[in-house]
Amino acid sequence: MNTEKSAALYARAVEVMPGGNSRTAVYSSPYPVYIRSGSGARVTDADGVERLDFLNNSTTLIHGHAHPELVKAIAEAVGRGTSFGMPTPVEVEYAEALTARNETFEHVRFTSSGTEAVMMAIQAARAHTRRPKIAKIAGAYHGAYDAVAVNNDGSGSLISHAVTGNPEGVVANTVVIPFNDPEGALAVLREHAADLACVLIDPVPWRIGLVPADKEYLDALRAFCDESGAVLISDEVGSYRVGYHGALRLLGGEADLTVLGKVVGGGMPIGAVAGRREVMRVFDPSQGAPALPHSGSYNANPVSMASGVASLRLLTPEAVERIGELGERLRTAMRGTIEETGLDWRVNGLGSLFRVLATSAPEGYASPAAAMKRLYWVLLDHGVHIGDSGLGCVSTPMGDAEVEEFGAAFGASLRQVLAEGRG
Ligand SMILES: Cc1ncc(COP(=O)(O)O)c(C=O)c1O
Repeated sequence: MNTEKSAALYARAVEVMPGGNSRTAVYSSPYPVYIRSGSGARVTDADGVERLDFLNNSTTLIHGHAHPELVKAIAEAVGRGTSFGMPTPVEVEYAEALTARNETFEHVRFTSSGTEAVMMAIQAARAHTRRPKIAKIAGAYHGAYDAVAVNNDGSGSLISHAVTGNPEGVVANTVVIPFNDPEGALAVLREHAADLACVLIDPVPWRIGLVPADKEYLDALRAFCDESGAVLISDEVGSYRVGYHGALRLLGGEADLTVLGKVVGGGMPIGAVAGRREVMRVFDPSQGAPALPHSGSYNANPVSMASGVASLRLLTPEAVERIGELGERLRTAMRGTIEETGLDWRVNGLGSLFRVLATSAPEGYASPAAAMKRLYWVLLDHGVHIGDSGLGCVSTPMGDAEVEEFGAAFGASLRQVLAEGRG
């Protein structure tokens, strides 16, 4: 595989950035492949090699790369000015478009990333309940905010552990519950009930294997929140794309607050907290100082808003269903290939999302990274890009041809990994 230009770029990058990197997820040893451009379902790397992109910026670009309608909306918005110290009409238009998609999204508030939106949802729950603790699912990822950088490594450990340097007080205020185990979760939650501001879930948590939450589990968490007064937060930054109304609705649950990001921004930086007025009013400055002041120079900037409006317009119920069906075909084909090879691997997912795990462990905890990382490179060599964790997704510019091309590349790559003795 010719990656000469990527190697040269990386040699320059290490001189000016730690490990040449500004985003841990895009690092790949010995160096990442640098991307020059993208169009539709494909990207072209720095050495001019074109590939099918099934990662789509970590599942963000649901309409693929440089979609003409998004490019037009963004270019027009940029032409009108990129941000102002006053609100803009397009913010209202986007808020209307977003709240119309799910009746639990009564009010919405914008940020510039999913991380910030998770942070604001947690702070809103704390301001609303005046309680300090949060509960999260063991192993699940919710961005870089310190309160959720606790047990976010994909492992199922129920002992709170944090990234290096996270203060003890933060770790002590983050309680960890097991996934899809109603009784196990309730036992932990009941112990901390009086202090819990919120229960934070991702209905399809990718880092612990991309298995959807069971209805029984969701019902147990809902009932606990109703009883205890804790706010149920559904982080759908990654999983919103599986249903027109979002992931939790598809799985039969209902949240007080929903955190959105990625696909709702049409490729521009975005985050949003949407939910019940009763909780969202902590942000309201119209009745005196709000319980939770929340500013940000780029909150609701008109470029992200215009891009978001255009992205939502393209994300019709039919579009969501179509890419969901393609996702199901993709998962079925991958499972068939894995079965043929006799490997003990697994493919999970829902709708347009999938994750390949080099293990058959129930929730995908502790996926052996080495085999998956090797598959990542071999797939690149066969013209397909997915995440090196095995994460991938279907985008709306894709159709039968891309799914078939993926299937052929996946089969050839998996057989190569197996032949190398790395399965
Ligand atoms: C479930 C979930 N929450 C939050 C985030 C953070 O979003 P962002 O990367 O926009 O900060 C992510 C990002 O991958 C995510 O998957």
